Amino acid sequence: MKDKSIVPTSRERAMREGDFIVSKTDTRGIITYGNPIFIEFSGYTEQELLGAQHNIIRHPDMPRAAFKLAWDTIQSGKEFFAYVKNMSKDGGFYWVFTHITPDFGPGGKIVGYYSVRRCPKRSAVETVAGVYSQMLAAEKAAGAQRAIAAGTQVLVDQLNAAGMSYEELVFAL
Ligand SMILES: Cc1cc2nc3c(=O)[nH]c(=O)nc-3n(C[C@H](O)[C@H](O)[C@H](O)COP(=O)(O)O)c2cc1C
Repeated sequence: MKDKSIVPTSRERAMREGDFIVSKTDTRGIITYGNPIFIEFSGYTEQELLGAQHNIIRHPDMPRAAFKLAWDTIQSGKEFFAYVKNMSKDGGFYWVFTHITPDFGPGGKIVGYYSVRRCPKRSAVETVAGVYSQMLAAEKAAGAQRAIAAGTQVLVDQLNAAGMSYEELVFAL
């Protein structure tokens, strides 16, 4: 279970070049595997992670619309790339560049998801953090019912202004 009482701090853990943070989930996002680096950065034990929802490391600075886009993409059978700010058990944070893919079983049915994260580009993190904070502000202003629509609109406006698709923008950073 996610502990909502964790207070976010300004302590940052930086991924090293060559680090890969790997996790697997079932179709509902329940963690079924985490590699040693995932365990190290999360600050949780393997026992705490296995069987927990992946939102156990969700950082409150992340807009809801980002996860909506992630889930819509992977549930439709496609791969998803994103810069994500995660929160460790001690409230510290770490930025990752993540790639999430569906895991297909017999007959092409999605049986779970697989995620590999690597060290993000520092300049990209600064840009993305700015976009996410605008999305989050729009979500808070809109209220719970309209939050995702409002956050998504901020992202769509930015993509339209840049004349790029979401994936094009992520790789242009
Ligand atoms: C394979 C996989 C990996 C995920 N990795 C993360 C992650 O690193 N950080 C994160 O906050 N959410 C991650 N999620 C999304 C979470 O399941 C969840 O949707 C998100 O944390 C938002 O949680 P909330 O809906 O409770 O706000 C991942 C989902 C999947 C399927």
